[in-house]
Amino acid sequence: MKPATIAAQALGWIDETTRAVSPPIHPSSTFVRDADNQYRSGRSYARADNPTYDQAEAVLAALENGAAAALFASGMAAATAVFLSLKPGDHVLAPKAIYWLLRSWLLSFATDWGLKVEFVDMTDLIAIKAATRRGATKLIWTETPANPTWDITDLAAVAEIAHAAGARLAVDSTVATPVCTRPLDLGADIVMHSATKYLNGHSDLIGGALVTRVADAHWTRLKELRVQLGGVPGAFEAWLLLRGMRTLFPRVRTAAVSAQAIAEHFTGHALVDHVLYPGLASFAGHAVAARQMQGGFGGMLSIRVKGGERAAIATAAHVRIWKRATSIGGVESLIEHRASVEGPHSPCPKDLLRLSVGVEETSDLIGDLEAALKAAQG
Ligand SMILES: Cc1ncc(COP(=O)(O)O)c(C=O)c1O
Repeated sequence: MKPATIAAQALGWIDETTRAVSPPIHPSSTFVRDADNQYRSGRSYARADNPTYDQAEAVLAALENGAAAALFASGMAAATAVFLSLKPGDHVLAPKAIYWLLRSWLLSFATDWGLKVEFVDMTDLIAIKAATRRGATKLIWTETPANPTWDITDLAAVAEIAHAAGARLAVDSTVATPVCTRPLDLGADIVMHSATKYLNGHSDLIGGALVTRVADAHWTRLKELRVQLGGVPGAFEAWLLLRGMRTLFPRVRTAAVSAQAIAEHFTGHALVDHVLYPGLASFAGHAVAARQMQGGFGGMLSIRVKGGERAAIATAAHVRIWKRATSIGGVESLIEHRASVEGPHSPCPKDLLRLSVGVEETSDLIGDLEAALKAAQG
C-alpha cells in the first residue's frame, strides 16, 4: 500500500469484536488484573497503555517509515521529551529559525537544567559541522521548513554530520508532514510532529507525536519519560487524530497547490516586498526542498508587506475570508503577524505575515488578500 492508501484506510484495521470500520474509543483509565496476578492483556493503566493510541501510532509509524510512534499531549510535550531524554551537560544544536516557544524553552528551562544549547543556521552546513563537538554533542534538532521563514535544512547532509559526531538527528516535520518529506528515509533518527496541525487538520485538538527509525534503548527511554512526565493525550484526542489522518494526503496536496499559486501571484506584487515559499525557484532553499520535498512544498508561506509592521498588521486587520488566528495546518486558511507573537529573541521580520493555506478555493484566498493589502494602504 502507498502512504496515501495507508492514511485513507488507517492501515485497513477492522475492529475484531464488532467488525467496525471506524474504531471504538477506549476511555477506561484502568484495566483488570488476571486472578493469578498477571496482566496478560499487556495493559494496566491508561497513562502508559491506552488502546485508543494503538492504531493512530501504527498509522503514523507507517507513514513515516519508522519502527514505532508515540503520541503525546501536545507538540511541545513531544519536543521537550526529546531534550529531557538527554543528560545535564550534553551539548545540543538547535536552529536559529525554530518554533518560537521551543526556542524560549531551550533558552530558559533547558539551559537552567544543564543542557548546553547552541543555535546555528541550519541552512549552513559548514557552520553546523563547525559547531558540533565530537563526543559532547548528543543531539542536532532541526525544523524544516522552519516556521515562519521556511528555511530548509538539508536533512541527508545534516544526518551525516550528526552521526559523524556521535549525535542523533531529530526533525520537527510538522510543516512538511509525511506527505512532503520522510526524514527517517533521509537518515534522521527521530521525527516530531505537532499533531495539532496537519496530521489532525481540523483545528479541534492539541496533540503531538514522535516517530523513531529504530526501536532502540533511547526509544525505550523516551517512552518511559512519556509515562513519567504524563504528557499523554486523552482517548478522544487520539481517536480524533486517527480520523483526521485519513484525509491527510488530499488536504496537504490541495493546500500545497493553492500555496504555490498564492506565492506566485504575490511575487513581484506592488504591495509585497518578498514572498517566502520553498516552491518558488527564487527561494534560497528551493534546490534542497525540490530534492527532499518530493510530495510537494507544503501549505505554509509568508509575505513581507511593503510599508513595514504597520502595513502588515493593517493587512491582517482587513481580511474577510482568511482567519486572523495563530496555529497552522487546518482546513481553514489562517493569517498572522508573527512578530507580535514571538517575543524579543525572535529573528522574525516585523513586516512578515504568516499564511497557513487551507482547502478553500484558491481564487477566494487570493482575492481576499489582494483586497486587504489595498485596504491597508488607506
Ligand atoms: C512547527 C511547530 N512545532 C511545534 C509546535 C508546538 O506544537 P503544540 O502547539 O501542539 O504544542 C508548533 C505549534 O505551533 C509548530 O508550529
